[in-house]
Parts: sequence; C-alpha cells; structure tokens
Amino acid sequence: MKVRDLESSSSSVPLLYQEDESSSQIKILSTFLSAVTAAALLLLLVTLVLIEPDAGHRTPVVIFPASRGVSEGVSDKSTASLLGSSLTGYPWTKAILQWQRTGFHFQPEKNWMNDPDGPLFYKGWYHIFYQYNPDSAVWGNITWGHAVSRDLIHWLHLPLTLVPDHWYDANGVWTGSATFLPDGRIVMVYTGSTTELVQVQNLAYPADLDDPLLLNWLKSDANPVLLPPPGIGVKDFRDPTTAWYDAADAAWKLAIGSKDENHNGICLIYRTHDFIAYELLPGVLHSVPGTGMWECIDFYPVSTDSEVGLDTSVPPGPSVRHVLKASLDDDKHDYYAIGTYDLAAGQWVPDDAEADVGIGLRYDYGKYYASKTFFDTAKGRRVLWGWTGETDSERTDLLKGWASVMTIPRTVLFDQKTGSNLLQWPVEEVESLRLSSQDFKNIDIDIGSVVLLNISRTTQLDIFAEFEIEGESLIATVEADLGYNCSTSGGAAGRGVLGPFGFLVLSDEELSEQTAVCFYVVRNVDGELKTFFCQDELRSSKADDIVKRVYGSIVPVLSGEILTVRILVDHSIVESFAQGGRTCITSRIYPTKAIDGVAKLFLFNNGTGAKVTAKSIKIWQMNSAFIRPYPLEA
Ligand SMILES: *[C@@H]1O[C@H](CO)[C@@H](O)[C@H](O)[C@H]1NC(C)=O
Ligand SMILES: *[C@@H]1O[C@H](CO)[C@@H](O)[C@H](O)[C@H]1NC(C)=O
Ligand SMILES: *[C@@H]1O[C@H](CO)[C@@H](O)[C@H](O)[C@H]1NC(C)=O
Ligand SMILES: *[C@@H]1O[C@H](CO)[C@@H](O)[C@H](O)[C@H]1NC(C)=O
Repeated sequence: MKVRDLESSSSSVPLLYQEDESSSQIKILSTFLSAVTAAALLLLLVTLVLIEPDAGHRTPVVIFPASRGVSEGVSDKSTASLLGSSLTGYPWTKAILQWQRTGFHFQPEKNWMNDPDGPLFYKGWYHIFYQYNPDSAVWGNITWGHAVSRDLIHWLHLPLTLVPDHWYDANGVWTGSATFLPDGRIVMVYTGSTTELVQVQNLAYPADLDDPLLLNWLKSDANPVLLPPPGIGVKDFRDPTTAWYDAADAAWKLAIGSKDENHNGICLIYRTHDFIAYELLPGVLHSVPGTGMWECIDFYPVSTDSEVGLDTSVPPGPSVRHVLKASLDDDKHDYYAIGTYDLAAGQWVPDDAEADVGIGLRYDYGKYYASKTFFDTAKGRRVLWGWTGETDSERTDLLKGWASVMTIPRTVLFDQKTGSNLLQWPVEEVESLRLSSQDFKNIDIDIGSVVLLNISRTTQLDIFAEFEIEGESLIATVEADLGYNCSTSGGAAGRGVLGPFGFLVLSDEELSEQTAVCFYVVRNVDGELKTFFCQDELRSSKADDIVKRVYGSIVPVLSGEILTVRILVDHSIVESFAQGGRTCITSRIYPTKAIDGVAKLFLFNNGTGAKVTAKSIKIWQMNSAFIRPYPLEA
C-alpha cells in the first residue's frame, strides 16, 4: 500500500505515520469507529498522539486513518494524509459546520456517502443509489442508499436497498450499474467485497416491477456471477458498467476496469445473454500505459450531429462516437476521451492518442470522482452524476456528522463546435430553483481592482456572466507566457498581463477569505491566444485543517466567442462551467467568516495589462431543494 498525494499538489505533506507500525492502531481504530460516537472518537484521536522515543526532543505524532479503504481493497477514501500538519485543527463551531450543509445538492441526511450507483428513470421517478455508511461519517460498512425524485433536484430519501448480508458482499456492497432489458426488467450488477476481501460481481433485481419506488431488491441465487479472471488481482476487479446490447453478436456486453501487472489501466469486456453466465472477451477494450487501476469505467455513445443523448446500446456509426471514462485510483480524477468503438473487434481507439484516457481530458478539474452516466428515457438525454468528497479532516466530518455531496446532475453532449470535448451543463431542472435575479451590464473591472456586486444573500446562487478583454489589450500583449499552469502559477495572486480575472465568491468584505473563479489568457509562441479556467481555494478559509488547491485547465475558446462562465454556489460547494461546459471545476470550501450575511460577491481583475469588462451578469438567488425522507406509510 502506498499513500499518495491525491490532488497531485506541488507541495507534498509529509506523512505522519508508517503503515507497518501503525496498522494495528488503524485496525483498532476502525473497530472502534463503528461503535463510538463522534465525541468519543475525538477523545481517541487525542489519546493516539504518540511520543516519538528516539529523538532527544519529544515530537507529537498523530496517527491518522489515512489509508481508509485501501487496505480493504478500494481507493483511498480519506484526505488525512494531506492534512498531517494540523494537530488540533480549527475550532469549528456548530453554527459554521451547520452552514456547510448544502441547500440544493443531493446528500444523505447524515453519515458518509461516496460513488453514485445505478442511476435510472423508472415509472416517473429518477432513482439514485449511492455508496453509504449507515453507521458513521467516514467510509466503511458500505451499503446502498437510495433516493427518488421527479426532477433530479427535489429528492426524497428511501430506506437502504442492498446491504452487506451475504458472504459475497459481506465487506461491502460496492459500486454497480443498472441495465434495462427489452422486456422491462431491470438488472443491477454490482461489486461485492467478499468475506475474504475478493472483488466479485453480483446480480440484483427489483422484487416488484409494479412498484415505481423500487423499494425492495433481491440478490440472485447465482451470486457471485463473476470472479476475478486469471491474471487480474483479486482487489483489482470492480465497478461494472451498464451493459449495452450488441445486436450483431446477439449478446450483451459489459465493461469492468482493472490494471495489468505493468500498472497499465485496462478495460475488460464481458459477453452475456442472461447476466448470470459471462464470457471474457479476448484482449481488452482499451489500455493506457502507466495509468494504474481504472475504477468506475463508463462507456457510452454520443451523437456528433444532434443535441440529444443516446441509449447505451446505440451502436457506433457515422454520427456516433463513444466516450470511455475511467476514474484513476492513482490520482483520484475522472478522465475521459472520445473515440471510435469497433464492435466486432471489441476495441476502442481514442481520436487523439495524446489525450487518451487518464492522460488527457477530465470531466472536472476539481474535487470530483467516481462519476457515472445514465440515459434518461424521459427527456432523451445522457445525465452525469459525480461524487464530490470533503476536503476537510475526518475529525471535522465526524463533528458534522456527514461527508460528501453529489454534484448537480449534468447533461452530457458532444461539443460540435470544437469536435474534441464534451459539454457538461447542469440539468435544466435546477433552473426551477431560481428565485429573484439581479442583472448587471458593462461593468469595467480596472486593472488590479475588485468590484463589489450588491447582492443581499450569496450562499445559494446561480451566476451566469460574459467577460470581454478589450481588443487593444489583446493586441498589445506580445509576450508569450508558456509555463502557465492553474495549479502552480499562484491562482488569483499570480499576476500576468491578461489575467487572472473573474469572480470572488464567498468572500468577506476585507477579502480575508475568498474563492476565485477566473480566466487567465496567454499568448502562445505561435501567436495564438490560449485561455485557462481556474478556481483558487488557497484563501477560501482561514482554517488550515483543509486541503486547498488551485484547480483548472485550458478551456477552448473559438474565434469570435466571448468568455462565459456559469457558477453554482451552494454553501460548501462551488461548481463552475466555462464556455458552456467545456471545462468544469468543482470545489469544496469551508469559510469561517465569509458565511451567511457576511459573505459577499466580487468581480476582480488582477491582470497587469487587461482591460476587462463584464459585459453581462445575471445572478439568481437559489431556493433550497428541501431534500427529505419520502413519506412512506408507517
Ligand atoms: C453495517 O450496516 C448494516 C446496515 O446496512 C447494519 O445492519 C450492520 O450492523 C452494520 N455493521 C457494522 C459492523 O456496523
Ligand atoms: C443594494 O441593493 C439594495 C436592494 O437590493 C438597495 O436597496 C441598495 O440601495 C443597494 N445598494 C447600493 C450601494 O447600490
Ligand atoms: C500543472 O501542474 C500540476 C502540478 O504540478 C501538474 O500535475 C500538471 O500536469 C500541470 N499541468 C500542465 C498542463 O502542465
Ligand atoms: C492580486 O495579486 C496580488 C499580488 O499577488 C495579491 O496580493 C492580491 O491578493 C490579488 N488579488 C486578489 C483579488 O486575489
């Protein structure tokens, strides 16, 4: 086991424990976890402060459960290794922690959540299942939570569905996907971690197809239906996809990610008729050297000439390309590539080998992982769910009593203008939460200035804005800025000629806390302009028991296009979409001061030579979604 820097930071935090020496403590800790309350755990953490015997001076070392999940055979579910230097942490108050709960993002009432599972639409209801710990705000004892909604926004919690109650899933009912059969049946194929911590695939199906809520699920007597094949590690075989029907072969195909002995990420394809007996197809669908374990594979068609979503079984064709997505266990990011699927050969080839899966585009450059799409038959669209975890400490999560939210579901389309990326956009239903709005036009943001926008409440917002850099500034910029990189170039404080500029969300009046959502434009050696879209969390909170990053990447801006950004602010989550969703960034932020009525919204321009105008800004106050339990009869 290796504990890695999940966020690929430039400054790595020294680990404060050794795996071998501390494994017994970790075991003790995890045994305690299910039993003790948050307060008791705090006490435990304090008692685990060890005194290093060798050094002449006494150095306190905190034992963190940094590898939560890894020893049990799943990706790391903790940011503890990144927070090592904070011994006691920020003195969070109840009021601040309460403020962090979101108003319109999906999250359980309490406890831990991770990956979305088996999203589907059935008899008028959207269903979301999710990885859930019924017992605690940290990962463990994974069970499927379940909720339904009429519109993907107003969710109602339902009882747990799949629980770890068989030998083949005793250590966790892990991630899975739903497939609709032509006769109306639904099959759910999910990973179980067995009593021996072997990853196997299991089959479950609704007990009553007449029940639109799909409350009860049955596990197949044939479980487990798939065991790790020869050459695949018993802990490297998880997260089956939705199946697609290959008419030419008269069989269903289903993908599972893994890695080979050389640490290459791979995608296996299985063939089945009944979801009970499977045949592993020779070769792999695709493989990328050095990318490690591929979790949560998603594989689906996109239309290249219309703005509709496609059913997962739509075969490749002249205007149909296939997206392959993998969640990289090594760096905890969701990477995708668009390419060509050769059904007969059972292989997929990326359009651009330089931007292959795991080395090229990401769905989201922020805190975003283990996503999954489904085809929404109600609206003929493909909808993407993504998990955004916490970037605070587990200590704080236990105090809060919950951890993780889902991002607002996003429609996914092929970008017909660039031809090289997807467009992700919050589902239109989120607009039903829009309350009053305020418009601003043609605000000049002077070089080196900030402009306060007079908004009364700023913690639940939907912002849409267009920015323009004055032509003269662009022409005057001759200098190339080759090394620019959102993550390493200083964020909002790293001044260049044409940026950064954009918004400061959840800022206090003095800017002692601020989160920048911004553009940064550079001129390439070839004279072309290149635009970066970044989100800077470095000053998002005065608390230091938080992982803070500057996230971002290039965003394609075509000739004649104006710069546009959409930002959803919802307490501790900020989701941003540049150029109609070509580049997206999600942050979790935990201000201590810039909350409630104190939080303000600013425009800023820190470019040294950019005359920037906010051409138009529209800001909506957002209602809450009032997510609550479904009123089932007692
Ligand atoms: C795990 O969760 C289930 C509910 O899904 C519960 O019945 C069981 O007691 C839990 N196991 C442990 C070890 O906490
Ligand atoms: C801010 O907006 C409120 C109404 O939303 C208005 O009453 C107030 O005068 C405005 N303040 C400034 C400085 O424009
Ligand atoms: C930006 O810097 C990060 C951290 O060093 C690195 O992982 C990433 O590859 C860099 N991005 C580009 C486009 O160079
Ligand atoms: C602009 O850059 C300066 C210099 O790095 C920094 O002190 C300031 O905080 C930045 N402005 C904003 C709004 O971040």
